[in-house]
Amino acid sequence: MLTEAEIKAALTVVKYPGYSRDIVSFGLIKQIVVNNGDVSISMQLTSANAEVAAQIKAESERALKRLPGVNLVRVEVRQQAAGPSGAQSPWANQNRVPGIRKVVAVASGKGGVGKSTVAVNLACALKRLGGQIGLLDCDIYGPSIPLMMGIRQRPTISAAEKMVPPSNHGVKLMSIGFLLDGDEPVIWRGPMIVKTIQQFLTAVEWGELDYLLVDLPPGTGDAQLTLCQTVPLDGGVIVTTPQEASLGVVRKGIAMFEKVNVSILGIVENMSYFTAPSGERVEIFGHGGGRAEAQRQGVAFLGEIPIFTEIRVAGDRGFPVTISAPEQPPAQAFMKIAEALRQKCG
Ligand SMILES: Nc1ncnc2c1ncn2[C@@H]1O[C@H](COP(=O)(O)OP(=O)(O)OP(=O)(O)O)[C@@H](O)[C@H]1O
Ligand SMILES: [Mg+2]
Repeated sequence: MLTEAEIKAALTVVKYPGYSRDIVSFGLIKQIVVNNGDVSISMQLTSANAEVAAQIKAESERALKRLPGVNLVRVEVRQQAAGPSGAQSPWANQNRVPGIRKVVAVASGKGGVGKSTVAVNLACALKRLGGQIGLLDCDIYGPSIPLMMGIRQRPTISAAEKMVPPSNHGVKLMSIGFLLDGDEPVIWRGPMIVKTIQQFLTAVEWGELDYLLVDLPPGTGDAQLTLCQTVPLDGGVIVTTPQEASLGVVRKGIAMFEKVNVSILGIVENMSYFTAPSGERVEIFGHGGGRAEAQRQGVAFLGEIPIFTEIRVAGDRGFPVTISAPEQPPAQAFMKIAEALRQKCG
């Protein structure tokens, strides 16, 4: 006697056309009915693309007919009516959070390039430009945003039993760091990450937000991909240093976002150069790698941030430069990038 679990397992060989993920994990299967050897499946697609539906149907039928003990196979694929954009991606309606207008990830192919510093200062810069801003620190390896934002308190619980994010400098924050005790390293397994991050989106009282910026962990491995699939991202920003840009690290970052169908808003070059007290400009890590790579990859270049001691000191104090010295050159570099980002996001 065939079970539903066996049918589902058989259907995992069917990938959503154009993606590496299978139709079962996308949640397309709505009903499975087994009657003696007759199997009847019903699926629901968000895509209105008839070709996609036909391919999924044909491949599912083939996969099911291979199962021992199966006689008749019936696969029904229902589709939504075509919208203005025609074919929709399977992520089109992925857990959109009511009240949050844009969710933008800040990522880098490699650690230590200043990704969290950029996320924090962009959040504060966007706040200064006007709007409601949230920050979501998903860095499972080393959540550093609470320190940079000067936030020590943890979320409180509302009457509706939702988490109320603490805030500082006008920016609301949720961090994986709030859930950890002390500095003990934690090994997160995939399902744990997904569950926690889902709660950060659905069980947090974010209220109305114009932007929610997400600090992803460094790298482009499985954890990053899982996060990108869990958070309904509207776009990604890639942070690089000039020398990393030329080493394919940016390309890896772009490939990661493309794999999960997230559009790339642009590249930020951090630690571009250093101005010595004498006024001499020193290009410690080279210069212009980010812009050149952006051009090669056909993505926007959002701007560059020089090395300023003030940026590090401000981060350590929990008072980002965009808040503590907004008119000074370090903050102005971030303000320009925030403006470019707003323009790209529309
Ligand atoms: N433009 C800059 N000028 C001076 N210091 C900077 C600049 N950008 C980042 N830093 C400093 O470099 C260090 C690393 O930055 P940060 O923690 O933001 O990097 P990260 O990419 O988030 O690192 P991780 O991979 O560990 O998450 C911090 O001490 C930060 O203050
Ligand atoms: Mg970081």
